[in-house]
Amino acid sequence: MNNIKSKYQILLNKKNIKPITCLTAYTISIAKIIDGKVDLVLVGDSLGTVLYGMKNTQSVTLQMIKEHGKAVANNIKESLCIIDMPFNTYNSKYIALKNAKEIIKYTKCDFLKLETDKQNIEIIKHLSDNGINVVGHIGVNPQKFKNFNKIKSVGKTEKENKSLMSQAINLERAGAKFIVLECVKQDLAKKITSAINIPTIGIGSSKYCDGQVVVINDILNIDSSFKKPRFIKQYMNLKKAISDAVDNYAKDVKDKKFPSKKHSYL
Ligand code: KIV
Repeated sequence: MNNIKSKYQILLNKKNIKPITCLTAYTISIAKIIDGKVDLVLVGDSLGTVLYGMKNTQSVTLQMIKEHGKAVANNIKESLCIIDMPFNTYNSKYIALKNAKEIIKYTKCDFLKLETDKQNIEIIKHLSDNGINVVGHIGVNPQKFKNFNKIKSVGKTEKENKSLMSQAINLERAGAKFIVLECVKQDLAKKITSAINIPTIGIGSSKYCDGQVVVINDILNIDSSFKKPRFIKQYMNLKKAISDAVDNYAKDVKDKKFPSKKHSYL
């Protein structure tokens, strides 16, 4: 716990000074690669769409997040680990606390993230009052969407701006340790970030957040079968790299070049 506290303090100190880095991970191999390279590792419920081919995140279960969360959290030694609470697992204070305790006990993660709006801030407070490190998530809440094509940026009207600003302030008061801002327009993201003392982590919410998060599969381009959001920058073409490696392997097997003596027990 002390370790979490001191690492969190380091990230708090970065506010307004140095951007905080965060990426998703769902498997042990990725967790081991990114540990220590980013400040925060998020086991997002995006695993439903990214790993399981679901159309949205509403079918992600507690069991799925617990298993992927445990695999990742057990292999994160330097960074801090956040796990998403799935859709319908935090509908009341009682259910949220029960499930939060279950995820933490099973995975030993550092933080839990809940998609938040003005209706459920009291749940964040309840978890926080019970010693759970909570991350809020405002702006676009993907768990509310069956069809991701309908997702649009937020912060276009005065009413929307006021509502998001008060959600951010109330989340800080409720004890949230970070707030993820998803698809929030630049001006509003900037205003929210300077109005609160806890770090904002943006996804599609401009450079004016205290940190950035994206889905790792998107920046590696492992799956090109769906259109990526405009805020995604591609850092490599992993789909092509894997495809080339598999072609080479299959060719070597067919040409009887693999396995060679070197790869055999003589
Ligand atoms: O589920 C997820 O991966 C997220 C994002 C913020 C990346 O919540």
